[in-house]
Amino acid sequence: MSSGGVPSAAATSSSQCCGQHGSRGHSARRAPPLAIHEQEVGVADTLQLEPLTEEAFVANLQQRFKRDLIYTSAGDVLVSVNPYKKLALYSLDVVEAYRNRPILSHLPPHIFALADKAHWNLRERNEEQCVVVSGESGSGKTEAARIVLQYVTVAGSGPSGAQQDPALAPIKLIRDRLLQAGPLLEAFGNAKTHKNDNSSRFGKYLDVEFDFKGDPVGGTFTSYLLEKSRVTRQLAGERNFHIFYQLLTGADIQLLKSLKLHRNIDNYAFLRPSRPLSMETIDDKRDFQVTKKALETLGFSAEDVVQIFKVVASVLKLGNIGFTPTSNIDGTEGCTVTNDYELFEVCGLLGTNPMELTSALTQRTILAGPVLDSPSTNPAPPPPPPSCGSLRGVKSGGCSSSAAGTPPSFVPSSSMSSTASRDVYEVCEMLQHSTLARLTLADERGSTSTAGELVVADLSASEATASRDILCRALYSRLFAWLVKQVNDATRVRKYGKRKVLGILDIYGFEVFEQNGFEQFIINFCNEKLQQAVADCTLRQRQEEMLREGIEWTPVDFFNNTPVCELIEKNNHGILAVLDEESQRGGPGGDESFLARLCHTCGSSAYFETRNCAPHSAPSDLPCNTSVPPNCFRLRHYAGTVTYGVTGFVDKNNDTLPLDLSLAMFRCEHPLLKNLFPEGNPKRTTLKRAASAGTQFKISVGALMGNLQSKTPHFVRCIKPNELKQPRIFENALVQHQVRYLCLVQTIKVRKSSFAHSESYESFLHRYKMLSPHTWPSWRGSAVEGASYLLRDLPLSSPHFAFGRTRIFVRGERTVAELEEFRRQRLEDLAALVQKMWRGYRCRQRYILMRQSQIVIASAWRSWREWQIGKTRLFKGKKNLFCLYRVAREEYRELKRRKQIEWAVQVIQTHYLQWRRRQFLQRLCVSLPSESPMCREWPAAAKRLSDTSLLLRRIHHKWRCHKYRLKFDQTARNRMREKVTASIIFRDRKASYPRSVSHPFLGDYVRLRQNVQWKKICVETNDQYVVFADIINKITRSSGKFVPILFVLSTSSMLILDQRTLQIKYRVPAADIYRLSLSPYLDDVAIFHIKAVSLSIEFIFFFL
Ligand SMILES: Nc1ncnc2c1ncn2[C@@H]1O[C@H](COP(=O)(O)OP(=O)(O)O)[C@@H](O)[C@H]1O
Ligand SMILES: [Mg+2]
Repeated sequence: MSSGGVPSAAATSSSQCCGQHGSRGHSARRAPPLAIHEQEVGVADTLQLEPLTEEAFVANLQQRFKRDLIYTSAGDVLVSVNPYKKLALYSLDVVEAYRNRPILSHLPPHIFALADKAHWNLRERNEEQCVVVSGESGSGKTEAARIVLQYVTVAGSGPSGAQQDPALAPIKLIRDRLLQAGPLLEAFGNAKTHKNDNSSRFGKYLDVEFDFKGDPVGGTFTSYLLEKSRVTRQLAGERNFHIFYQLLTGADIQLLKSLKLHRNIDNYAFLRPSRPLSMETIDDKRDFQVTKKALETLGFSAEDVVQIFKVVASVLKLGNIGFTPTSNIDGTEGCTVTNDYELFEVCGLLGTNPMELTSALTQRTILAGPVLDSPSTNPAPPPPPPSCGSLRGVKSGGCSSSAAGTPPSFVPSSSMSSTASRDVYEVCEMLQHSTLARLTLADERGSTSTAGELVVADLSASEATASRDILCRALYSRLFAWLVKQVNDATRVRKYGKRKVLGILDIYGFEVFEQNGFEQFIINFCNEKLQQAVADCTLRQRQEEMLREGIEWTPVDFFNNTPVCELIEKNNHGILAVLDEESQRGGPGGDESFLARLCHTCGSSAYFETRNCAPHSAPSDLPCNTSVPPNCFRLRHYAGTVTYGVTGFVDKNNDTLPLDLSLAMFRCEHPLLKNLFPEGNPKRTTLKRAASAGTQFKISVGALMGNLQSKTPHFVRCIKPNELKQPRIFENALVQHQVRYLCLVQTIKVRKSSFAHSESYESFLHRYKMLSPHTWPSWRGSAVEGASYLLRDLPLSSPHFAFGRTRIFVRGERTVAELEEFRRQRLEDLAALVQKMWRGYRCRQRYILMRQSQIVIASAWRSWREWQIGKTRLFKGKKNLFCLYRVAREEYRELKRRKQIEWAVQVIQTHYLQWRRRQFLQRLCVSLPSESPMCREWPAAAKRLSDTSLLLRRIHHKWRCHKYRLKFDQTARNRMREKVTASIIFRDRKASYPRSVSHPFLGDYVRLRQNVQWKKICVETNDQYVVFADIINKITRSSGKFVPILFVLSTSSMLILDQRTLQIKYRVPAADIYRLSLSPYLDDVAIFHIKAVSLSIEFIFFFL
């Protein structure tokens, strides 16, 4: 079973070397062991292969294979050639060498390197990973997956980590359970086939969950469609599932006795075909111990183990039950169990009643057809379907509803779905009536049946055998599903926290046998999907990315298998859809009808052939395609053409277990059977019809592909060197065929002209920003700009990088490793810096604490010393000293309190004053006086603010004057100037001056300037510029009386004119007026003093 050369963790723990904690490049590095020293045989990394042709590639593989170098790197893919012998490639030394290798070291390609990369990405990049192992059946996939699992479970804390550290005991337990799940599932799910002695007959996908340190904390297994037909039938030269042989060969005599088994394999019909097989590669006895140990490690109790083996033994014994045909009284065929003792033993193992099991195996309960009142009106009944057996009204007791010799008055409706019959049956069950009672009642009512009546039909011997086989397959496959569930329970993650997942996919390999059935079709469909996913990732997506990112690129062609996948899975028109339709239709001849409909629906596809429809390439005039056998169809898969026989397709797709069997199994006392056959529970409520096997598989494969796409994939392509399963044989043509359909050369070509790594600018910058002072600690510009700054600051040449539209591309793996190395070194420096700062902080804190302690100690010491001194010198006793201390302390407190009060007063005062100032200003701003400069009002202010108030008043006054001035035009300004001049002259000198201030000075009070007569006069006398003109009183010298006259003052003279005639009476040139006098009193007298040549004259005027 476990024939690979990988030591199990438990088996090798004693020989292991130091398991270092810490990541790659940090641990003590040792020279790699001899086994992995690069031996220059061929080309290890085929990117360097020249010329890169299929032949050269295969020759290179062969050259390396001869020297036991089975791993070769092919671009993004690791190629592994099955050596069919144990190699010293997986020792713990080698594990350690790959685990601790420096980033830039060069070690030969190895599956450990791939597993390490996946684990490292998971740990360091925090990305979910998956390892996809693919290849033909027998190419070494299961071994590869096992090796990957063994590596990744120890990659975190090292192979010996858990053994040495008790805190890691839970990790060790999970590690052991994950590793032991493999042998257990292989014992129940693997078998010897022509292709492989340990061929996986189920698909397996394991999600291992890791904590942040990279240690496994749990896992979940998903199994895909077990090939259960193998339980009852195997091809010549193949074997049944391993567990049957292991149990018979390995179990001790007591166990065998309790299971009522014999050691001789020949005693069991289901195992007989494999009897002549040589047992070179399989040691069932040893493997049984491995299986038992696995069950134990996975937490199965001794009782559980016995119950599991009881089910296995029951399957074996059921296989031995034969049926003898009998004729019923009504002429229909029935059967009885030939070997009752086997049946009794099975019933003993399962805890059920032999009668009940016999009825379940030899009879079928079905739903009756439409109401038929009399036999005469009854149309000829259609023949019963082969799976339904002949019908009788009631068995056991002979109270049949049909009279002897007459045809049964009710027939099963072939169009009635099994679900409907089940529903009615369940209703009966729920009503607590037994089928028998129900039927008897119906019979007593008078030999007629209504639609919906349940009847029991006898099965013929061949039908009973088929029924028995169905039961055996169901028992075994459900036991397997239950085991997977139990394993998952045992490996479930129990710790909370952030976790990352690494998936390992080991699906059944591509298979072509001489006869291929439904199972091979499903297996090959799965492989087709996997091939599509791998090609998508390594070839299509990569090329599309280059084009999308605008990087120069020459497209590489490859075989695209999408049409084949669509041919199989397309909704409505795919092979699986047609099969589903046929399965739902039910009735006889399903397989033939399925083939006919396939021919009609898929006949146009170039990948599909039947006898009646040839591929497009074939000449159309050929009447029939004789290369395809009858009842077969042929598909052109990516890995070759496969011919499938359609017999059994519909039944296997339907995969329904007759309700009689479910019920019988549910009623068994065996504790597992209630779990395995829940639909047998009459109280269950779900009446939904289960999806067909094909559809279920399609859905689960779709989910699997989605899951793989969400993770970073790592591909292992396994190659089978020969069909003989022999070491040292390398069949060139076989390998070349595999290399071709796996598109390995194209993968290398694409990788060679593309880049090893691509990443979005944002994530690239985020990962490496610490490598440039421009981008560390934070970069605010665009990510592209940041990335180019970053690269400029690195000692790496620019041809190693390419800038796409949204992603940056790194040419070689080595450059990626160099970047990682730079990052590691820089992180070490940064870690040292953080440590330094932390230590500094700690020391400072310590220093502060020590200083405070020192002060406390010193003060205590001083107190003590004073007390000592006081005791001897000043005070008589301790009591006085304490009094003194108390007084001093009181005084100190008082002083402190006073100081606090003073401080408080100051604060209050300051705030109060500020508040007052604020109040004053706020009040002032709403009660400002008028804006007239004449206004004298001003709001009163507190004495403390009088200076401020005065200042503000001045400012306000200046401001309003300024505003006032701004309103003046030129005339007003002139007038003001006159007023100011008048003020300078008359203010405080003339009592009537204040009265005049408010009157504007006009000068020409009689509008003389407009007078026509005056205009003439003034031209003559040159007195055009009148400064003053008004009617005033002149005091005559002679009489002293007032005489009104027109007084005019021009710029050149003073004139006295008659007020009516404007006749000039006197004209005195301005130069002759030498003085002007005014009285200081409240009169209007003005005196003009005039120089005269002969006498001096003075005019005295009264200005009114
Ligand atoms: N790396 C290996 N080292 C040694 N033997 C191997 C190795 N890989 C496969 N084998 C042998 O090939 C057999 C078939 O391998 P297996 O992994 O079961 O094939 P697959 O799962 O692809 O059908 C194994 O039982 C084992 O004997
Ligand atoms: Mg396998």
